[in-house]
Amino acid sequence: MNVEAKSPVVISGTSSGIGLAMAREMLSRGHAVLGLVKDADNDPLRHPDYRQEQVDLSDPDEVQERIRKIAATLEQPPRALVNNAGIGRMANLEQLSLADIQLVMNTNFLSHVIITRALLPLLKRQGRGDIVFTGSESALRGGRQGSIYCASKFAIRGFAQSLREECGKSGVRVSIINPGAVRTPFFDELHFEPGEAGENAIAPEDVAAALAMVMEARPGTVLDEINLSPLAQVWRRK
Ligand SMILES: NC(=O)c1ccc[n+]([C@@H]2O[C@H](COP(=O)([O-])OP(=O)(O)OC[C@H]3O[C@@H](n4cnc5c(N)ncnc54)[C@H](OP(=O)(O)O)[C@@H]3O)[C@@H](O)[C@H]2O)c1
Repeated sequence: MNVEAKSPVVISGTSSGIGLAMAREMLSRGHAVLGLVKDADNDPLRHPDYRQEQVDLSDPDEVQERIRKIAATLEQPPRALVNNAGIGRMANLEQLSLADIQLVMNTNFLSHVIITRALLPLLKRQGRGDIVFTGSESALRGGRQGSIYCASKFAIRGFAQSLREECGKSGVRVSIINPGAVRTPFFDELHFEPGEAGENAIAPEDVAAALAMVMEARPGTVLDEINLSPLAQVWRRK
């Protein structure tokens, strides 16, 4: 069976890290996955039930245009929408340019709002489905050199909480998963990373397991928020 014939799980950022682990987890559970990726040539996932669409989430106008077209191609409403893609720009505020700030807010927050707004009517019409956000521990508390990243994640958390209130009666559940440090390429361009030991970082597959738990909850129950932490958080400078 191909992706067109099944209600797909739509996941952004399936080319890497948490999104890739989520896509693999969903495929292993028999779901079809529609991955939203920045660069179609940089997507390692190949599977008969996987389809990719290229969308640059840093450009709100492109996101709006592309998601409308993608939604029109769906034969089945999505089983779930997982707003996962994101980037980090960690520095003191005065070291960040306006372009940096817009890049983070567009990619981590505004694009997810636009995608959710486009797909929400499909989910509501079928009377069921999950909207899941990859938040962060940075959605729960601010931290040094994290002003804009934390702001983007606080925004996502406030958006998710409000949307949950709006959607409950339509059968659509809204959840947010807030991991601490996860060992992914997220840190490739940052000046710090989790310590080397296994307990210093969450594995992307742990976050994917949390997504599966959210989706498999009894339809009348919502797992509002899941917070995950490494057993022993250690950061090291590169
Ligand atoms: N790693 C952590 O410690 C951690 C902790 C808490 C929350 N998170 C959150 O988890 C989410 C996934 O991050 P990750 O750790 O899996 O990092 P990652 O491995 O760097 O993956 C990020 C994903 O987002 C995609 N992406 C970035 N900019 C994009 C754009 N303009 N348009 C479309 N896609 C774009 C990337 O695509 P490309 O590969 O093509 O750039 C990639 O697929 C993010 O929202 C992040 O904030 C991460």
